[in-house]
Amino acid sequence: MFHMINLSPLLLLLLLLNHDPIQMTNAELGCDYSNGNWVYDPTYPLYNSAQCPFIEHVFNCQRNGRRDRTYLKYRWLPLGRCRLTRFNGTEFLQNFKGKSIMFVGDSLSRDQYQSLLCLLYTSSPGIKYNETRVGDISTVTFSDFGVKVKLDRNVYLVDLVPKKIGRVLILDSVARKSAAWLANDVLVFNTYAWWNRSGASQPWDFVQVGRKKLKDIDRTVAFKTALNTWAKWVNFKIDPAQIKVFFQTVSPTHYNGAEWDSPQAKSCKRETSPVLGPVYPGPPPPALAIQKEIIRSKINNTAVRLLDITHLSQFRKDAHPTIYGEFGGSGMDCLHWCIAGVTDTWNEILFNHLFQMPLQNSLM
Ligand SMILES: *[C@@H]1O[C@H](CO)[C@@H](O)[C@H](O)[C@H]1NC(C)=O
Ligand SMILES: *[C@@H]1O[C@H](CO)[C@@H](O)[C@H](O)[C@H]1NC(C)=O
Ligand SMILES: *[C@@H]1O[C@H](CO)[C@@H](O)[C@H](O)[C@H]1NC(C)=O
Ligand SMILES: *[C@@H]1O[C@H](CO)[C@@H](O)[C@H](O)[C@H]1NC(C)=O
Repeated sequence: MFHMINLSPLLLLLLLLNHDPIQMTNAELGCDYSNGNWVYDPTYPLYNSAQCPFIEHVFNCQRNGRRDRTYLKYRWLPLGRCRLTRFNGTEFLQNFKGKSIMFVGDSLSRDQYQSLLCLLYTSSPGIKYNETRVGDISTVTFSDFGVKVKLDRNVYLVDLVPKKIGRVLILDSVARKSAAWLANDVLVFNTYAWWNRSGASQPWDFVQVGRKKLKDIDRTVAFKTALNTWAKWVNFKIDPAQIKVFFQTVSPTHYNGAEWDSPQAKSCKRETSPVLGPVYPGPPPPALAIQKEIIRSKINNTAVRLLDITHLSQFRKDAHPTIYGEFGGSGMDCLHWCIAGVTDTWNEILFNHLFQMPLQNSLM
């Protein structure tokens, strides 16, 4: 869909004329689900989080004592003609039989991974599964369907290598572990949140570009360089007929109330309803434009689809764990998302890409 922008108007016209209008898919209509509104829908959430065995403590808001439940009851409604089909776990498992999907990235990838596990598991309660972890890769296998859902914790996508001088982040080399990525049918990448870390939480001592090892570097330059390295890897290694690749855009945080016209708010504390759309008052995170531009200009075919979740998630100041997560009451998590919640919508969009937008490179 994103790459249709590159098609000449004539080709586009031919494509459209070639189809019975009734059969035109979202992708053909240029469906853009990234703009829209959250609407109250009492049939949500898509599952009861108490019945999902895959949610870790830090995302398990209801179990950790969060009392309000309205934040669970919103459905994303894209603007215009774009229709988002409700996630159906049974359909996913059946259509995805024998296949595997891997999320590669940081804790936001983990958040989406666990949401997908819940969506699948709760669609067929009691379904058999097993769970393994080898190195940084966790795998859950739903054995009746041979469906594998995996997570590779890899926060920068480029290599981070322990050497004699210290830990070196190598900006022009894609993770040595990328061979494991190629053994999947669907890949969902994400990198963003760790690039601005410094001090004790910065997990590298040097950053290397070419032969040069530096103590530090402009972080936006580093981020761009790494994304370009990743894009080259995609161009070189990914055959879009074999592997569907998605890139999950910036997941927004809510520590600055000025963004949603509550300048006194320093966090998402006690927020219980979304910002009303369709326009978020705050600016888009600057890194979003970088991600979009690199994927648009540096990936030389339709190999990557953006999973553009930034704008829709910006409205959801109400859906973070706050004190019902990582810090057990003493801290304020306005970065991750409660499960059930917003990451279910990210997966709902992924579901639509995989099974409902069959123009260019859908699975079915
Ligand atoms: C989900 O999909 C299955 C298989 O296509 C279908 O039988 C079922 O009715 C669907 N569930 C819902 C809630 O739509
Ligand atoms: C998990 O399931 C897979 C697929 O059925 C199987 O190959 C593997 O041996 C199982 N692992 C464990 C630990 O049961
Ligand atoms: C994509 O770009 C790479 C260089 O980055 C080139 O080697 C490759 O042939 C290109 N592939 C296609 C399909 O154009
Ligand atoms: C890092 O922080 C700066 C200043 O807030 C911001 O402009 C930049 O976009 C951030 N970069 C990344 C990759 O997060």
